[in-house]
Amino acid sequence: MILVTGGAGFIGSNFVLDWVSAVGEPVVNLDKLTYAGNLENLRSLQGDGRHQFVQGDIGDGALVESLLARHRPRAILNFAAESHVDRSIHAPGTFIETNVVGTFRLLEAVRAYWGALQGAEREAFRFLHVSTDEVYGSLGPRDPAFTEQHRYEPNSPYSASKAASDHLVRAYHHTYGLPVLTTNCSNNYGPYHFPEKLIPLMIVNALAGKPLPVYGDGQQVRDWLYVGDHCSAIRRVLEAGRTGETYNVGGWNEKANLDVVRTVCALLDELKPRAGGGSYGEQVTFVKDRPGHDRRYAIDARRLERELGWKPAETFETGLRKTVQWYLANTAWVEHVQSGAYREWIATQYASAA
Ligand code: NAD
Ligand code: DAU
Repeated sequence: MILVTGGAGFIGSNFVLDWVSAVGEPVVNLDKLTYAGNLENLRSLQGDGRHQFVQGDIGDGALVESLLARHRPRAILNFAAESHVDRSIHAPGTFIETNVVGTFRLLEAVRAYWGALQGAEREAFRFLHVSTDEVYGSLGPRDPAFTEQHRYEPNSPYSASKAASDHLVRAYHHTYGLPVLTTNCSNNYGPYHFPEKLIPLMIVNALAGKPLPVYGDGQQVRDWLYVGDHCSAIRRVLEAGRTGETYNVGGWNEKANLDVVRTVCALLDELKPRAGGGSYGEQVTFVKDRPGHDRRYAIDARRLERELGWKPAETFETGLRKTVQWYLANTAWVEHVQSGAYREWIATQYASAA
């Protein structure tokens, strides 16, 4: 079996659902259930013996040790993190706690477990750390895309905390020989994406008749990858990646934020025309920029494609259409995640950005 951390969040829950249907191997899912963790994402696995959920913190060494001793996983996939850049600007402390200290404690527990394994079990064991392209910093308009050799230049408390965790993972391989793999992926989108992030926020605000807050001039560029393609990349790296290596994961889909928002609006205009007529695009509002806002990210995913034969299945057009359709079909999920805590965050963030 495998142990997944953060498997009730956006990417983690997509991964768990994907894993159970594509691979079928049992998975233990350790998640603290912060504001971003949601067991509703995993509802279709209720009563399925291949998925076991445990509420807990990756930084709780005793808990992790007991889970490792009881389940003897062949692999650990670390998705657990604080993941929202804007929240890291308002309150960086939890990012250091989970992303840096939590990853360190998890690595310590894993080092002890792996150190006691023997023979084939020890050979086959893997620790896969899920990271981000944001560790590389920001690119100029004509700079080549980030390769795995690009130096780390994190600019936000979030990306600095992820960079620190990547360095710890690297050091545990270099110093102790722990068989680690790291993936650095670009911006994901798809089902179960918490509506604090750009694409789901625009969808839910548009449908609610609210402003669509675009930071600064909206010309910041991100590379977008459908979450299912990130999941298939992680499965492939786990299966065949070289230990100690890092793999960049991306969709070759560089888009300016304003273009992304306009595409979301056009899809909504087609699939759910505005009750009062006109386009959802009329709701776009330019607001104060994010402090330290990285201008451009771009991922060179050729290592993953060349060495492991991975290719994304979705284009931005097909993936975004699927995503908008998912939000239109899952209004109950959206209503449930818009709890009091969610409303407080939106009020804090967009009052200061106005
Ligand atoms: P998310 O915020 O949606 O989910 C994070 C999950 O981790 C939640 O379920 C939360 O409850 C859990 N968690 C938080 N702190 C924990 C702790 N201390 N112990 C156990 N569980 C804890 O994040 P996401 O967007 O799904 O991102 C998952 C991972 O992928 C993160 O490591 C993130 O840095 C990375 N990543 C995200 C993207 C993206 O576009 N979302 C892109 C590249 C990499
Ligand atoms: O690049 C990978 C990263 O992508 C992940 O590591 C992070 O966990 C994930 O949150 C994401 O970070 P971003 O900051 O790029 O994502 P976000 O959806 O917050 O913002 C995308 C872009 O849209 C960014 O340039 C900021 C802008 N934006 C965002 C919001 C929430 C707006 O213009 N308005 C908004 O309201």
